[in-house]
Amino acid sequence: MRITVNQIKEMKQKGERIAMLTAYDYSTARIVDEAGIPLILVGDSLGMVVLGYESTIPVTMEDMLHHTKAVVRGTKQAMVIGDMPFMTYHISLEDALRNAGRFIQEGGAQAVKLEGGVTVAEKVMRIVACGIPVMGHIGLTPQSIHQFGGFKVQGKTPEAAAKVLEDAIALEEAGAFAIVLETIPTQLARIITEKVSIPTIGIGAGIRCDGQVQVINDILGSYTEFVPKHAKQYAKLTDIIAKAVTEYQSEVKAGTFPTEKQGYSIDESLLAELKTK
Ligand code: KIV
Repeated sequence: MRITVNQIKEMKQKGERIAMLTAYDYSTARIVDEAGIPLILVGDSLGMVVLGYESTIPVTMEDMLHHTKAVVRGTKQAMVIGDMPFMTYHISLEDALRNAGRFIQEGGAQAVKLEGGVTVAEKVMRIVACGIPVMGHIGLTPQSIHQFGGFKVQGKTPEAAAKVLEDAIALEEAGAFAIVLETIPTQLARIITEKVSIPTIGIGAGIRCDGQVQVINDILGSYTEFVPKHAKQYAKLTDIIAKAVTEYQSEVKAGTFPTEKQGYSIDESLLAELKTK
């Protein structure tokens, strides 16, 4: 049985911190799931760390569904959350409902995430009314980087901070089960966390959130083009992979890989028949 929305909400009530990670493929999702991470986000960060785009903006519904299906196949206990890509919930309520539904019906996800507060609250309410759990995402919402002028800390002036708080309240009222707070001051994240009854999941929002989310490639050190200040590298996979690949190439060139151990054989009598042909 997978983790439910109610269990996630209860974690906040019990003061139990929530760890959430992204995953984009079957094998990684399996490891994350087996480690007991309760929330796995198939983030549209996929666009940057897997597909090599400069932002999350080019990511499509088809990209997201393809990777969501793989993550769902690799997991048993975690709630898999599909991240709604740019312009798949902005144009109309109908679009928002259809695309949220596709994540659940075709992708096999248990919830969706979308960016925005007050401006998407009605859509959140209608998606939730269809029986689809929604996670909100406010603060630095990467789909709006052109509006923000880059990946910049949000909520730094009293007006901007009040707006982020207002967004959080709107999402709670709309029925979101949790809210990602991205790249906002720690003090603001603390106020929001105290004000709303649903869990806040921070990324670059300090230590006072109910939980934390990270892009898995950032904590594993496998995407090093841009390492955000809020990320801690628990491993440096680029170095490990580069070393392994270089060693492999040297062994192939030197003829020391493969060895007999990695080969297959057939019965000698069959081989004799072959030679007579
Ligand atoms: O796409 C993503 O990975 C995200 C997280 C950073 C929250 O939205």
